[in-house]
Amino acid sequence: MPTIPSNVRGARFTGWGVALGEKIVTNDDLALTMETSDEWIRERTGIHRRHIGGSTAAMSIESGSAALAMAGIDPASIDALVLATTTPDRAVPATSATVQNALGLRCGAFDVNAACSGFVYGLINAHGLIALGAERVLVIGTDSLSRVTDWTDRNTAILFADGSGAAVLESTSGHGQLLGWDLDADGSAEEILFAEIGGFIRMDGKEVFRRAVRIMVDSAQKSMKAAGITADQLSVVVPHQANIRIITSACDKLGVPMEKVSVVVHETGNTSSASIPLALFGDFGQVRPKEGDLVLLVGFGAGMTAASAVLQWGAQ
Ligand code: ACO
Repeated sequence: MPTIPSNVRGARFTGWGVALGEKIVTNDDLALTMETSDEWIRERTGIHRRHIGGSTAAMSIESGSAALAMAGIDPASIDALVLATTTPDRAVPATSATVQNALGLRCGAFDVNAACSGFVYGLINAHGLIALGAERVLVIGTDSLSRVTDWTDRNTAILFADGSGAAVLESTSGHGQLLGWDLDADGSAEEILFAEIGGFIRMDGKEVFRRAVRIMVDSAQKSMKAAGITADQLSVVVPHQANIRIITSACDKLGVPMEKVSVVVHETGNTSSASIPLALFGDFGQVRPKEGDLVLLVGFGAGMTAASAVLQWGAQ
């Protein structure tokens, strides 16, 4: 478990933005075309509606430009763009190239594919770049899962949706926000959640559920240990928004009461790489970090990846 050297250059969020798919699709809309019901979907997943439509580049440009505007910085002063996505618009080039050009950035740009853990993977990478001398990094998490969803498969179609969240990370003179982190993957579980190139997501939902709770808890505990904190010190927890039952079960095992947990899955469905920034920065989250708060971000996804980070909000 890596710990952050005490003399490393830190970073903090100075701007953020979000974007959602263009069209709202309710559970009742889905029940018109497949054998399911609003009641079943709410009870088994916590999802009430989701937003569908929009390319990965278009949503990234929308959230990214909002983040740049909030930070009040010249796009040309960004030193790197990290785009977390599992649904790139093209096989080649990376979607980050399209976004870099559209936002007027003049810097290196690359995609990170760690499925629903992607935003936290991207964030840790961005902190690493800042430790190596970058001043400002734009981190975006975007997925257009509707393009890889089989809309006749009730096992997956009820879950997945589209969205994006972006943040500008700027270097600070002090230790910065990141106190502890963990990245994990278990490629031996590849077959329980995958999509062939050009194909749809196939999922063993029960097995994903079973593993998800365990790997989220493991990863969160590693990050908290690296940060030298315990769960009772956390003010805000922002988990990947896949299923309310996964969130409540993981938070229960971590000993975190639900009033500290940001939940947006009822409005957004599972937006993969976008889910954590949507819950952290979007309008639907009920929990907002305040200056000095300790915040845990924790995700899991296909691969089976897991990623977590403990942040001190507003730290210098
Ligand atoms: N509507 C109505 N009934 C349904 C539906 C549906 N959409 N889906 C399944 N059912 C039925 C089943 O046929 C079954 O009926 P039976 O008892 O007569 O056999 C019953 O409901 C229970 O089905 P289960 O599959 O056991 O339902 P479960 O409680 O496991 O919920 C779900 C399914 C929601 C998919 C759950 O397993 C889950 O959320 N898993 C995790 C998925 C996940 O998080 N994936 C994303 C990973 S992140 C990434 O990388 C993209």
